[in-house]
Amino acid sequence: MRSADTGTQTVRLRIWRGDSQAGRFVEYSVPFNDGEVVLDVVHRVQATLAPDLAVRWNCKAGKCGSCSAEIDGRPRLMCMTRMSLFDRDSPLTIAPLKTFPAERDLVTDVGFNYAVAGRVPPLAPRQTEPGEHHRIWDADIERVQEFHRCIECFLCQDVCHVLRDHESNKNKFVGPRHLVRLAELEMHPIDTADRRATARHDLGISYCNITRCCTEVCPAGIAITDNAIIPMKERVADRFFDPLRLLAAKLRSRPDSGPAK
Ligand code: SF4
Ligand code: F3S
Ligand code: FES
Repeated sequence: MRSADTGTQTVRLRIWRGDSQAGRFVEYSVPFNDGEVVLDVVHRVQATLAPDLAVRWNCKAGKCGSCSAEIDGRPRLMCMTRMSLFDRDSPLTIAPLKTFPAERDLVTDVGFNYAVAGRVPPLAPRQTEPGEHHRIWDADIERVQEFHRCIECFLCQDVCHVLRDHESNKNKFVGPRHLVRLAELEMHPIDTADRRATARHDLGISYCNITRCCTEVCPAGIAITDNAIIPMKERVADRFFDPLRLLAAKLRSRPDSGPAK
């Protein structure tokens, strides 16, 4: 609602307050100015009405990935979401990421992501001779540059229904952020490792059914599904389900398949 003389507007916010045991939405009403983002308004609540409100942030520039939350039900960075998106009189709802355990108020425990990150085998660079340097074609490295833009905000992890709706899947599926990391390493021009068996058996790539929700919320604009997950699924299918490969393996395993005498 805009005040005619000052240009200042007022917004009603419903912010989730609580901890791992219990919580509820509490409504606050604060002014905001043209050009502000949701994080500005949350900070105003903290400064003027609720000094004990817990909120995680760091850069306020869309670079650190700390300020992830669900704003009107959609996973977003609070520091990159303009208040002008919500030009209306009804309250704006701000909740913590649902997929991860609540710690306090808007802060969640995203430790799951750090725990599973180690399941993606690291870069295994091709060995060089003494004095030799790796030579990389621009076209080969450009493909993985997109994946380097990840800021580990975990919005993709939050929105993916495989993790969000089924807690037990966290044992089996690492989630889209880590499939981006997998693709980044697998497609790296100097890497020599083959992570296809890991992708299938340890990272649970087959749990992804290509809903593309992760791509829709990624603030770094990474085409997670089309450029990372689908190519990796194709590589896994090629390794494990290619009929010609299967036939060749079958022939090789036959007792009479030795060289002709
Ligand atoms: Fe965030 Fe995108 Fe990285 Fe997922 S891939 S953690 S949405 S930046
Ligand atoms: Fe989940 Fe993204 Fe696949 S939202 S189901 S990882 S396409
Ligand atoms: Fe760093 Fe929002 S505060 S991304």
